[in-house]
Amino acid sequence: MARRILAAGNWKMNKTPSETTALIEEMKKTCASDTVDVLFCVPAIDIPAAVAAAKDSNIQIGAENMYFEESGAYTGEVAPAMLVDAGVSHVIIGHSERRQYFAETDEMVNKKVLKAIEHKLVPVICCGETLEQREQGVTLDWIRVQIKIALQGVAAEDAKGVVIAYEPIWAIGTGKTATSDQAEEVCKGIRDLLRELYDDETAETTRILYGGSVKPGNAAELFGKEDIDGGLVGGASLTPDFGGIVNYEK
Ligand code: PGA
Repeated sequence: MARRILAAGNWKMNKTPSETTALIEEMKKTCASDTVDVLFCVPAIDIPAAVAAAKDSNIQIGAENMYFEESGAYTGEVAPAMLVDAGVSHVIIGHSERRQYFAETDEMVNKKVLKAIEHKLVPVICCGETLEQREQGVTLDWIRVQIKIALQGVAAEDAKGVVIAYEPIWAIGTGKTATSDQAEEVCKGIRDLLRELYDDETAETTRILYGGSVKPGNAAELFGKEDIDGGLVGGASLTPDFGGIVNYEK
């Protein structure tokens, strides 16, 4: 079954609202595509500007995080209904930077995934190993635990709509990309896990991305792999050159 490639940007803590408007205007020119889905996950305060600038284009706007409660006394947090009302379609959940700097646990990731699905937001669920874990040979064991917990209580029908992003921590922002074979091995392992947890159809439908120093020069090789359905891109999503990733086939 052909899965559409998803080129997703993760702006992290970059760009002001006015810079967002200008950058999305540029991206509309370089990221036009009929065949590849384009998504930018932006800081919460930039969402209204990004949604307005992306209107009537092929670009979808996502959030980088959200909280798992509906509303209430959670100072500084953003609720799922706020994202939906603002025009957001996707939300990154459990990025390694949130796990590392903001103490997010697998249990919190699971709660956020369930809440996102309840609000019809597509969760982009992140997983990834440290360099030590890779050297100890436990990469796939670790990823399986992360994904199994993230998907606790998620029905097959809903699992088909989620996006999973495999991002080895040692490859994020380091310029060190996993080789396409290393990336494929883990993405295939995740697909095998989906087959175990659900069924063939779910495994063949769910999109699995690779992230970690994806750039125009390596996108074609990575996205050409059987089990890699696109990329989650940090640094290289901050300039209009991102169009070189969207149009990786050209
Ligand atoms: P990078 O970040 O492309 O800058 O390595 C990827 C990510 O953290 O999503």
